[in-house]
Amino acid sequence: MRKVAAVALEKMFSAAEKDGIYLAGASGYRSQETQVSLYNNYVNIDGKNLADRYSARPGHSEHQTGLAIDVSGASGECAIEDCFAGTAEAKWLANHAHEYGYIIRYPKGKENLTGYIYEPWHIRYVGEDVSKEIYYRDITLEEYFNVAIPVDQVVGKR
Ligand code: DAL
Ligand code: ZN
Repeated sequence: MRKVAAVALEKMFSAAEKDGIYLAGASGYRSQETQVSLYNNYVNIDGKNLADRYSARPGHSEHQTGLAIDVSGASGECAIEDCFAGTAEAKWLANHAHEYGYIIRYPKGKENLTGYIYEPWHIRYVGEDVSKEIYYRDITLEEYFNVAIPVDQVVGKR
């Protein structure tokens, strides 16, 4: 992770512990090679159309920026799985990530704007001013930057 994001993450994990919530990083920075093998693996399992809804193509993942991380509970149970949604850890993250400069990057019901299905575990560092604005306005990063184009209208994406 980039330093600014790592420092904020440590602060957030410590604050969570004080609330009895033990968080862990499940997938942080990824190299191009890692994203290539992850994406190809998903395409082999689910086909390109479905894989594109939950995995970024190589060169397009926020994980490659060092500003995004997938968070799980410390037990690792439900890490990067749908069952993470609704856990105490997911709830804490949804309610508090913005206090530390992070946003839930791919919120529920916003696939047409973000390009990805709901990922309650994927948080992206944007700095505290932006994270708070996005949280309180209940918008996506695309809407914040006024670049929200329905995904089905983006040439080449699907
Ligand atoms: N799962 C997210 C979209 C990624 O691959 O970066
Ligand atoms: Zn992720």
